[in-house]
Amino acid sequence: MNPDEQNKTLDAWQASARYWEKHRALIAQMFAPLTAGLVQDARIRTAQKVLDIGGGSGEPSLTIAGIVGPTGSVMYTDPVAGMVEIARSEAGRRGLTNIDFRQCSADNLPFPDGTFDVGVSRLSAMFFGNPMADVREALRVIAKNGYVSFAVWGPAEVNQFFSSVNDVVDRFVETPEQDPDAPDAFRFSVPGKLAGILKNAGAGNVVERQLNFQIEEKISPEQFWQLRTEMSETLRGKIARLTADQLPIVKQAAIDAIRQYFVNGKMSFPAEAMIVTGRKG
Ligand SMILES: C[S@@+](CC[C@H](N)C(=O)[O-])C[C@H]1O[C@@H](n2cnc3c(N)ncnc32)[C@H](O)[C@@H]1O
Repeated sequence: MNPDEQNKTLDAWQASARYWEKHRALIAQMFAPLTAGLVQDARIRTAQKVLDIGGGSGEPSLTIAGIVGPTGSVMYTDPVAGMVEIARSEAGRRGLTNIDFRQCSADNLPFPDGTFDVGVSRLSAMFFGNPMADVREALRVIAKNGYVSFAVWGPAEVNQFFSSVNDVVDRFVETPEQDPDAPDAFRFSVPGKLAGILKNAGAGNVVERQLNFQIEEKISPEQFWQLRTEMSETLRGKIARLTADQLPIVKQAAIDAIRQYFVNGKMSFPAEAMIVTGRKG
């Protein structure tokens, strides 16, 4: 990715930070199975030093701080100032003392070789500027035999949490064909793609695990529409291009498309992700 594209990606995340703060509790709850998958596959336990790359509004750092306990530590990193700020203030609210914050990108981790026992990244690898170099950089700062684990989304078709609203909006707003290697939630949805990058970056024992779970929360279709259209910079941009007449029509079409996932006041979308793990040799 060239520097202009990378800056565009970071600007989009900066603009999203206030919405990720607004919906932080919901995001933590909805995607908790991904954190559990990372903790399991990266073998995170008490007293470890853990690096989180692209920690966004605070996960998985905040959960892992509780798992490693007072004798362990977490280093939260994210290149976007707004994200670092909201994650740091949440850690303060919770009184966590074993977590540090650093504003930095995956391609330039300001730590000496072998600093951490384990590295994790939840839903951020798909936005890396140069995934191969960035995975290599993650491996550099992990101690020998330590694990690095990345959680990424499976295919869009089986992740209706995202595609149901996207597909409706795309019927109204022209969307250019996308480069499969451009930063996007589904950049690593092809099985083997991220695992291949880990292998080429020098990781050993690379394992890709498919993780199926339900994204569940007690919210209504209207609340979901608001959540989705606020969390995503791409959707916010597309919605801004709709005319005042189109907006209620698009919203209604999206709500009709998602209604099947809402029963008895509860949202439940089937979701598919991958946890890709390697070991520093
Ligand atoms: C989908 S959010 C995930 C945030 C959080 N880990 C979570 O799961 O809730 C993606 C995060 O990746 C971060 N990000 C974007 N480009 C990055 C890069 N080059 N290196 C590290 N993180 C990056 C963004 O700032 C954003 O916080």
